[in-house]
Amino acid sequence: MPSNHPEHRTADRLDGIRGTIFSEMSALAVRTGALNLGQGFPDRDGPESVVDAAVQAMRSGRNQYAPGVGVPELRRAVAGHQARHYGLDLDPDRQVVITTGATEGIAAALLALVNPGDEVLVMEPYYDSYTAMIQMAGGVRRPVTLRAPDFRLDLDELRAAVSDRTRVLLLNSPHNPTGTVLDRGELDAVAAVAREHDLVVVTDEVYEHLVFDGNEHVPFATLPGMFDRTVSISSSGKTFSFTGWKVGWVTGPTSLVRAVMAAKQWLTFTSGAPLQPAIAHALEEESAYYEALAKELEVKRDYLCDGLRELDMDVYVPQSTYFVTSDVARYGFKDGLEFCLALPEMAGVVAIPSQFFYDDSDEGRHKVRWAFCKDHEVLEEGVRRLRAADLHA
Ligand SMILES: Cc1ncc(COP(=O)(O)O)c(C=O)c1O
Repeated sequence: MPSNHPEHRTADRLDGIRGTIFSEMSALAVRTGALNLGQGFPDRDGPESVVDAAVQAMRSGRNQYAPGVGVPELRRAVAGHQARHYGLDLDPDRQVVITTGATEGIAAALLALVNPGDEVLVMEPYYDSYTAMIQMAGGVRRPVTLRAPDFRLDLDELRAAVSDRTRVLLLNSPHNPTGTVLDRGELDAVAAVAREHDLVVVTDEVYEHLVFDGNEHVPFATLPGMFDRTVSISSSGKTFSFTGWKVGWVTGPTSLVRAVMAAKQWLTFTSGAPLQPAIAHALEEESAYYEALAKELEVKRDYLCDGLRELDMDVYVPQSTYFVTSDVARYGFKDGLEFCLALPEMAGVVAIPSQFFYDDSDEGRHKVRWAFCKDHEVLEEGVRRLRAADLHA
């Protein structure tokens, strides 16, 4: 029997959804004074001109509710970005909605499209808000595992995961936490599955510009015939290093964007009014920022991967994002969580146990995610501390 104590009165839709591991590990970093190589936020803010544009918007009185779909100049800027980078031709009035970060876009899309009992295909390891929102929408997740060492999409596994109850395929490329960028061959195969089973594809592309080694990010909506069944989600947080602003967007065909808006209007209704014109400015004027950021991150990725490799961990070099995954089984801890809880004391460093992003507990047990979107000195100090420590249980 559930207790009737007020603290225990959460609704069934939250059953089994644990608090996000990112908050837990960031709190651990603050409590112990350890270096936070866990949560994915950069040490440095994005372009000064974007901050100036936000200040200017506040000073000029843009401080009341923005239109629910977002301010016109940001919707136009998002459409312009999709046209310039990907050749997509969007109507900014009907095919773009501004959201409170990608997180709200994901929530609104799942609430709008998933009926109780519907199955949702999701790549695992998964971003934790996906599984929470699938459950809150009453859906059932069907994970398709990206397996180490390459973390590629197993197309047979994908096909086998589809049933007659599958309704939505939730894609994430570039992928957090593995850094996998799905290539055209993989995406074509996903498109064939979506077509055959008439699925709606919700695609989270927040790392679209943080891709390394000349790899190409191909938005799913650009594949032949896919635009009409695809809800694309992105955000300014990672692209412009303003993760705290929470300005994101959803784009797609009019009917699907209307569906997302139908849910979004009852979540936040509208998102940070003065931040929206500033992000419009960023999208239009600051593309050099994210081009440089991707190059910088590539160098930091190499530095952290080399450092971790010297510790004799299996290190899986990512093609994109802020994160590298390693396997810590050799240190003798029961799992990644035990390792990560001991890490502040052993080494003064915090990392994220990836096991919470898996249904397949064997695959996830000893995987640990490290963030490299940090100042070089922070990474240097992190690697120095790890090297000096005894990391064994
Ligand atoms: C894959 C993925 N999607 C969405 C988000 C959240 O984006 P936002 O901060 O814009 O809500 C993140 C942030 O870490 C992420 O990694």
